[in-house]
Amino acid sequence: MAAAKMILDVDTGIDDALALLFALKSDEIGLEGITTVFGNVSAEQATRNTLAVLELSGAAEDIPVAMGAAGPLFGEWGGTVESIHDRNGIGGYELPEPKKQAIAEFAPDFIVRKLNEQPGEITLVFVGRLTNLAIALAKDPTIASKAKRLVLMGGALYAPGNVTPVAEANIWGDPEAAHRVFESGIPITMVGLDVTMEAVLRDEDVRRFKELAAGPGQEPLVRFVDAILKYYFEAYEQYNGCVGRIPMHDPLAVAVAEDPSLVDTEPHYIAIETKGRLSAGATLSDRRKASAFTEINASVCVRVDRDRFVDRLLKVLAAQPLSAQMRGTD
Ligand code: BDR
Ligand code: CA
Repeated sequence: MAAAKMILDVDTGIDDALALLFALKSDEIGLEGITTVFGNVSAEQATRNTLAVLELSGAAEDIPVAMGAAGPLFGEWGGTVESIHDRNGIGGYELPEPKKQAIAEFAPDFIVRKLNEQPGEITLVFVGRLTNLAIALAKDPTIASKAKRLVLMGGALYAPGNVTPVAEANIWGDPEAAHRVFESGIPITMVGLDVTMEAVLRDEDVRRFKELAAGPGQEPLVRFVDAILKYYFEAYEQYNGCVGRIPMHDPLAVAVAEDPSLVDTEPHYIAIETKGRLSAGATLSDRRKASAFTEINASVCVRVDRDRFVDRLLKVLAAQPLSAQMRGTD
């Protein structure tokens, strides 16, 4: 089966880096490009981290990286989320300075161009604020019917929020952009906290990853993944009270884009609270009439097969680069 074409939008942070490695290493995903946005870190730092992870993965050199929005549609970006991702977004780990640069095209223009070149072919996977997509839709509203699907990490329907009692970080960080995207008509799969908080890694999974990944030339990748996971375990324990378990928010979105059977979904009409004093960024569905929706705008993930997801994640992250696999068959 041909690999599914995707554009991945990231604010490379720790779980974004893992999502990126998953998308780069999966043989069922063909990345048409990577776009970056402010969020966990600045757009510049997200771009640098993305290029560095791309080089670490040993994936095809020709995957374009386009830098996008530096702040939300309205208001100001609150700055780097150091508590969870550290100052450089990747747990303080120093990856070599990337040799490649981002392309000159602005990320929203890149998205508009790609969707027009290949209508109906490309799945968008967004694991940060939806700002780049909102700008792309403003530039060319016809792209709403040209994306195959949008799979986004964001929101919370039954689960509580993670930056406020009711809001998840990616929606809260640019609620107006989220509102525009949810109202655009793009078919949406919402991979929110209802499932990502259940899609956890534990110590034994990290040990299994290291066993699976052992092999020639894999040391830099294993060192990086091990170090950022260690930072993430400590941060989630300190700031979120999660002991011995870390949610794989962004990798789950990529995995669901690759294999929708990992989750159960419910149809909903999701409205975004853009202004509430206490509730900005909430993803609301009128559940009083859930069975009687006449219109839906999202398939909301409500259950995840955690074990099958983690198994796939570890195997893909640990996979030997193609060149090493070919050497093994000599
Ligand atoms: C989301 O917020 C960011 O910190 C993560 O990268 C993820 O995309 C989880 O709420
Ligand atoms: Ca993210």
